[in-house]
Amino acid sequence: MPSQDISGKVALVTGAARGIGQAIALRLAEDGASVAVVDLKKESCAETVSQIEKLGKKAIAIGADVSKRSEVYAAVEEATKELGGFDIMINNAGLAQIKPLLDVEEGDTDAILNVNINGVLWGMQAAAAKMKELGHGGKIINASSIAGHDGFPILGVYSATKFAVRSLTQTAAQEFAADGITVNAYCPGIVGTDMWVEIDKRFSEITGAAIGETFEKTVQGIALKRAQTPEDVANLVSFLASPDADYITGQSILTDGGMIYR
Ligand SMILES: NC(=O)c1ccc[n+]([C@@H]2O[C@H](COP(=O)([O-])OP(=O)(O)OC[C@H]3O[C@@H](n4cnc5c(N)ncnc54)[C@H](O)[C@@H]3O)[C@@H](O)[C@H]2O)c1
Repeated sequence: MPSQDISGKVALVTGAARGIGQAIALRLAEDGASVAVVDLKKESCAETVSQIEKLGKKAIAIGADVSKRSEVYAAVEEATKELGGFDIMINNAGLAQIKPLLDVEEGDTDAILNVNINGVLWGMQAAAAKMKELGHGGKIINASSIAGHDGFPILGVYSATKFAVRSLTQTAAQEFAADGITVNAYCPGIVGTDMWVEIDKRFSEITGAAIGETFEKTVQGIALKRAQTPEDVANLVSFLASPDADYITGQSILTDGGMIYR
């Protein structure tokens, strides 16, 4: 018996081909849900789908770009039709940008704002509309970050997008409450995914640090003295998706091993 039982529920996870999204998709399946695995390319979702099927749970792969509103609505529609309902939306897909503020040029902000802010907005809209149509509540859970609580150097635009996720989460929680929908966000710290491989590489280009040095130095600053795993993040999301979190809404909860304190 999983600690968080969501048997019979249908969840959709964006950016679930790898990293944190993949761990969340697997964990929600372990908790009992059928899962729509969404990423830019349908083919890239195959590995996550196959791992979920090995758990004896139902999963489907959907290719969608979260920055395109129509594609997000279509993904929610397909998940509902194929999996027989719609209860939990995880707006996880996101991009990093590693640039000192003085170097940011016009056009540099388009992709990151479109994915990290608009992608979450379209995801919340599509999910809430579907839950309303189905006549029941649900849970919407968004990816923010420690960078959504504090502004981080060389991650300025990224931090701004993650602050925006917190504010959208607060607004949506109030607007959707009457329909029985809760809206929360998870705020990870330093997770050893491909995203951090890229962040570390860009930092070394900018600061001259050796490859791996920025990651290691940052991890040393964590109170618990280890990098976060995608499963550490999925533990929090599992809780937020479960009935135990029914009375929590509008919150952006830190899971960072002790980096920033709120
Ligand atoms: N890695 C960290 O340390 C960390 C820390 C805090 C928050 N986060 C946030 O957690 C989320 C997941 O991060 P991750 O480390 O697993 O990243 P990742 O880069 O390893 O994986 C992101 C996934 O999202 C997909 N994706 C990107 N743009 C997309 C789009 N437009 N439409 C659909 N899918 C898209 C990618 O193809 C990829 O599979 C992101 O929102 C990120 O900002 C990560």
